Amino acid sequence: MSIEQKYPLYLAPMEDVTDPAFRLLCKRFGADRVYTEFVNADALVRNIKSTERKLIIHNNERPVAIQIYGREPDSMAQAAQIVEQAKPDYIDINFGCPVKKVAGKGAGAGLLRDIPKLLEITRAVVNAVKIPVTVKTRLGWDDSQKIIVDLAERLQDCGIHELAIHGRTRSQMYSGEADWTLIGEVKNNPRMHIPIIGNGDITTPEKTKDYFNRYGVDAIMIGRATFGHPWIFEEIKHYLSTDELLPQHSMQWQIDILKEHVEKSIEWCGDERKGIVHSRRHFAASPVFKRLFDFKQTRIAMLRAETKNELFQIMDSVVEKYG
Ligand SMILES: Cc1cc2nc3c(=O)[nH]c(=O)nc-3n(C[C@H](O)[C@H](O)[C@H](O)COP(=O)(O)O)c2cc1C
Repeated sequence: MSIEQKYPLYLAPMEDVTDPAFRLLCKRFGADRVYTEFVNADALVRNIKSTERKLIIHNNERPVAIQIYGREPDSMAQAAQIVEQAKPDYIDINFGCPVKKVAGKGAGAGLLRDIPKLLEITRAVVNAVKIPVTVKTRLGWDDSQKIIVDLAERLQDCGIHELAIHGRTRSQMYSGEADWTLIGEVKNNPRMHIPIIGNGDITTPEKTKDYFNRYGVDAIMIGRATFGHPWIFEEIKHYLSTDELLPQHSMQWQIDILKEHVEKSIEWCGDERKGIVHSRRHFAASPVFKRLFDFKQTRIAMLRAETKNELFQIMDSVVEKYG
């Protein structure tokens, strides 16, 4: 069995992050599946142009999942049919978003407080389309309601193809450490037969391998650790197949990838300043700069840069100094 089949690695859906430019970069470095950011079902049904743009996918990023969120079965089913026309490999339903503007309105993780509706939405989406439907969710609403083991069975009964679980509750938002024990319990439940994807706090090749072995999941999904570090997929894959860490790429190589990402973001946004702002979180979080002793000043200077020339000059000076 190849490493891809044994240990698939997915790029997690992330709002404002997993646009086509970033997905293609992650794909190039070995991501076995990529996800769009979540797409609002109501906005799709209302033909909002800026939302429809989120459905743009390219053949060379496949397999790709388009993720939708909403709070009504009808609009979610209609949105799923619109999404199906964009021909993704999967439609993913978001039952995990914890932010107030989503969960507070009864969508995303908000549905973890209304399981009958969550299941109704799932069934409506599964019945509305021919392509496989997957779900991404959390352990439950809060500490007193970690319902995922039971919920996973019920979602499976709705006909979903796979289930991704982020090892936190809604109340935790992104705090504390992701708890994978319940993800492992879902996976080891003899009644479960669909693939289970584990997610939460995967940051290194060693942790990835350890968690694959410890929890037995069918795939692992990586989010924040990809910021400014799309080649993390290559590093993890190398470790999974050799048990050795890949030697670090040169500073020049890493900066070239970050620059390429900035260029692609500018292209995607159709505007230099917007593209720079859009890719800021990547160079702010990239491990490339975290290792520098004057990291703080460099980071501030990069975050202040308004033009590509300004930004690239700072990046080039890093290569000159440390490369
Ligand atoms: C900036 C940001 C945006 C996110 N947007 C989405 C989203 O659109 N859909 C979704 O299911 N999860 C979203 N998430 C959650 C991630 O997919 C993932 O579950 C979470 O970050 C935990 O994984 P990690 O520890 O590997 O980052 C987002 C997370 C971040 C940090």
